[in-house]
Amino acid sequence: MFANSRAVFSAQNAPHPDLSAVLARHRDREFQKPMAACNHAAFLEAHRRWRSVAPDAPLVLDSGCGVGWSTVLLARRYPMCFVLGVDQSARRLQRDKSRLGVMPENLAFIRADLTDFWRELAGAGVRLHRHYLLYPNPWPKPAHLRRRWHAHPVFPAMLQLGGLLTCRSNWEPYIEELALCLRWSGYAPVAGIHAPEETSITTPFERKYHASGQILWSLRCDLESGAKEGA
Ligand SMILES: C[S@@+](CC[C@H](N)C(=O)[O-])C[C@H]1O[C@@H](n2cnc3c(N)ncnc32)[C@H](O)[C@@H]1O
Repeated sequence: MFANSRAVFSAQNAPHPDLSAVLARHRDREFQKPMAACNHAAFLEAHRRWRSVAPDAPLVLDSGCGVGWSTVLLARRYPMCFVLGVDQSARRLQRDKSRLGVMPENLAFIRADLTDFWRELAGAGVRLHRHYLLYPNPWPKPAHLRRRWHAHPVFPAMLQLGGLLTCRSNWEPYIEELALCLRWSGYAPVAGIHAPEETSITTPFERKYHASGQILWSLRCDLESGAKEGA
């Protein structure tokens, strides 16, 4: 069951032809979807936990953390930071974590929709130290382009959060498209193949894809250095 994950199949094998037009539209128009009260409450709770445990600690965000393995590993890797693992699935967040050992104190798991949560953080002027986006749903059907984070109207708010962004995917076009959107937004992403090591931050999806012999793609981008002029 474990090592039998099939590679992503799609009619799209390269960046989507509409990508630059979609990015430009989202850059020029504010994302106006009203924010849900539950996501505002989740943001307030996250802020309270962060400030009560480690008021001055830089923030690391594990967006779409799933069952939270990576959140725990990140909290251990960055003991001087506070780590938020955010996911919309209560079922995943509540999954038993006892196999991960003693839970670090510098983390919180928050159930929220990132399309609101990122805007809440950006609206409050929060800047991240690190931002992890590990194996986001690839939405590989060409018609689902706008569901991918870089082609979603929330993308400009995500960029506003800053920090060193790390994204990994088992679908190369996702990383290629994200890299293009970052370049078009004035940043300098570095993308390549990700080879998991014993010491790397890993997730259940990464383990499954790796055990199934799939190539894993990775992107890193410093969003702190700001957009280049003229971009
Ligand atoms: C493919 S899973 C990857 C989970 C984990 N990062 C891993 O690698 O094991 C994608 C995760 O993103 C979460 N997700 C998708 N859209 C989301 C949204 N709008 N807000 C919050 N979480 C979301 C899903 O619930 C799911 O847990």
